[in-house]
Amino acid sequence: MTQPALQMDAVRKVYEMADSQVVALDHASLTVGSDEIVALVGPSGSGKTTLCSIAGGILGATEGSVIVGGEEITRYSDKQLTTFRQNKVGFVFQSVNLVPFLNARENLLVVDELGKRTGAAARQRADRLLDELGIADRAKNLPSQLSGGQRQRVAIGRALMNEPQLVLFDEPTSALDTELGQQVMELIRTEMKSRGTAAIVVTHDERITHFCDRTVHITDGVLDA
Ligand SMILES: Nc1ncnc2c1ncn2[C@@H]1O[C@H](COP(=O)(O)OP(=O)(O)O)[C@@H](O)[C@H]1O
Ligand SMILES: [Mg+2]
Repeated sequence: MTQPALQMDAVRKVYEMADSQVVALDHASLTVGSDEIVALVGPSGSGKTTLCSIAGGILGATEGSVIVGGEEITRYSDKQLTTFRQNKVGFVFQSVNLVPFLNARENLLVVDELGKRTGAAARQRADRLLDELGIADRAKNLPSQLSGGQRQRVAIGRALMNEPQLVLFDEPTSALDTELGQQVMELIRTEMKSRGTAAIVVTHDERITHFCDRTVHITDGVLDA
């Protein structure tokens, strides 16, 4: 049996503020199969971004354990987490955050440069992804010369460059209109399924959850059963 892409067990996350605490996740347990796409739906402030950040090794959990693709990252050092992120996960954020002075192709290649694997194979992979995502003819455009939907496609390509086991999409369609949002979700599903890659897709929009295999709801840091 293939390892699950994610096993979160009883994760608690408390943000310590100067004079208060915020419990952003409480006893959150979630397993995502090796090629499963899970929609994570909940109101603003319910802990969705926190969950993605912990699953992707950006933030540490206060309590509980996190295993990604069979690798337990719960007690990793910052350095170990950096290596983990470069090799195992991909991120696509709402606010796209492409590097503004790099063109579309260079925005894909920057992942490999950070991971110190430059070269012909990476360039081929970038070109193949741009082609699959339907933006090969935009490879030399800067982000400012792309539409919102095209920028999000570049961000998806970038998240797939390191052949991740788990891709975390944090509200990938919230800046797009309904039709574009549907197109981007369809693309996300096709890309994930053709690779057998797992994903968590955070959304407010119940209309796009049918592109996912399963929906998990979150309220005040608590996941539904
Ligand atoms: N860095 C932080 N410091 C303190 N509180 C935070 C921080 N990030 C998020 N929070 C709080 O944690 C809760 C969950 O936030 P978040 O995970 O961003 O929710 P969502 O993505 O569902 O909107 C909210 O109450 C938010 O205000
Ligand atoms: Mg959020």
